[in-house]
Amino acid sequence: MKGIILAGGAGTRLHPLTLSISKQLIPIYDKPMIYYPLSTLMSIGIREILIISTEKDIDLFKNLLGDGRHLGCDFKYKTQSKPNGIAEAFLIGEDFIDNSNVTLILGDNIFYSSNMKFNFKNDLEGAHIFAYHVANPGRYGVVQFDKENKILSIEEKPKEPKSNFAIPGMYLFDSNVVKYAKSLKPSLRGELEITDLLQKYLFENSLKVTKMDKGTAWLDTGTFSSLMQASQFVHVLEKRQGLKVGCIEEVAYKMGYINKNDLKKRAKKFMNSGYGEYLISLINEDE
Ligand code: TTP
Repeated sequence: MKGIILAGGAGTRLHPLTLSISKQLIPIYDKPMIYYPLSTLMSIGIREILIISTEKDIDLFKNLLGDGRHLGCDFKYKTQSKPNGIAEAFLIGEDFIDNSNVTLILGDNIFYSSNMKFNFKNDLEGAHIFAYHVANPGRYGVVQFDKENKILSIEEKPKEPKSNFAIPGMYLFDSNVVKYAKSLKPSLRGELEITDLLQKYLFENSLKVTKMDKGTAWLDTGTFSSLMQASQFVHVLEKRQGLKVGCIEEVAYKMGYINKNDLKKRAKKFMNSGYGEYLISLINEDE
């Protein structure tokens, strides 16, 4: 399974801010936003990852994350000329995907679970989405399903949502995704919509849904207010537990992608900040 992080064109509601820099580079509490979705992919075993951002900002992402070798991963980069829609990721990523299965995660979605198990399989057939109970489903893609988890409908920002289950920005696809993405037509707002792509899988009877565990937090960073809430959430958790959320080096170490020496080397780069000390404390815990 490969992974794509879509970290380009702005959420319109943050327009004044995102004019100057891709929002996935700004910090959520103590680390750049992209660390969170990146650590999510890494924690479910995905090491080959394509990062898509704007022509203007792609070098900033490259400077931040490099080729991924220091994390035992392989990062590639591509640009999206305009925010032409989330499903365009599969056209931009066609060569990278190269007939593999692929998980797409949005660069501004934060998942936190004390036990990151997403019922995730390598031998995926079709596509797999998650359902997350929210108070305000009308802001999102909404999925309606029956007791056997059979999907009855998927709708984008419905005025009258048929359920309270929003579809978070993490989607698993088999290798048909490129073919289906190529057959999409832009929507009225001129975007290749992820919802339309999911509809194609639904039509083929090959879309599955899993309810996200109640213990998982899915945080949105689409508005200034939700941005601040996400920072506060991470701050409170980290202060209380003394553990970091979204620490990519920690995930790489715990998943066995890098060893103690690699982690030590990495920690030295951040020695003047609490981040380096934290990485060293992970090694000390194991000794
Ligand atoms: P949003 O703009 O929030 O995507 P949306 O279509 O769900 O939003 P809305 O309908 O509320 O306008 O973007 C979600 C993430 O995906 C964000 O990190 C920006 C990124 N993105 C791209 O990189 N390229 C795109 O073409 C789009 C639409 C989004």
